Amino acid sequence: MRQIIAGNWKMNGTLAGVTAYAGALRAQASPATLIICPPFPLLPAFASAFAGSDIGLGAQDCHANASGAHTGDVAAGLIKEVGAAYVILGHSERRADHAESNAVVAGKVKAALAAGLAPIVCVGESETERDAGEAEDVVRTQLTHSLPEEFIGLVAYEPIWAIGTGRTPTPADITAMHAAIRAALVAQFPKTGATTPILYGGSAKPSNAGAILALPEVGGALVGGASLQAAEFLAIAASARVV
Ligand code: 13P
Repeated sequence: MRQIIAGNWKMNGTLAGVTAYAGALRAQASPATLIICPPFPLLPAFASAFAGSDIGLGAQDCHANASGAHTGDVAAGLIKEVGAAYVILGHSERRADHAESNAVVAGKVKAALAAGLAPIVCVGESETERDAGEAEDVVRTQLTHSLPEEFIGLVAYEPIWAIGTGRTPTPADITAMHAAIRAALVAQFPKTGATTPILYGGSAKPSNAGAILALPEVGGALVGGASLQAAEFLAIAASARVV
């Protein structure tokens, strides 16, 4: 399987920029599976711009219910209808900004799966938790409670203190955490846990991508800031390998 390089645009991007960005991605053959997760209003434009390519499209959240009186929220079915195949769930920014608990995330994962979307479920410890030696326990708890029994999808390990800071864990720390996540997934999901892709996220950029993507059990990267420029995103993807 090719490594997966997913771009999380967060609350960035414009409609005017979609054509050039998508064109740049389409123009360059990549050793990775590429996925772009833009803000909701850009999904239809990206779906058109990626049509006929193998570049994946994802949203950054969905609601746990299929429809209803939830002002401002977006249903997984609508995300699927406009052409996305993935949805990022449980990102630490949503857990913090919107008080999303593991139980809330699990409800969203169920909704995504029911709608036919592949969830990309984010986990990761704070700096305080890492300093206290609790990082693996925190992540294991997030996995246990954020992933419902029907889970099939991707997991992204994103240490909160590495997001947007330019800091990354050491290769040894990434290796240890990805091994811990793999073991937890195999225990929780005997049929699929061994093959669930585990992406690394947090200050991934062209200069560190090669070293990170070479580590065992790293199935790809979830890229924030460095995904906003097509050239940078493609430079990260150029380091991808078959795992
Ligand atoms: P940065 O790559 O900007 O650190 O963001 C990582 C992230 O949160 C991706 O979801």
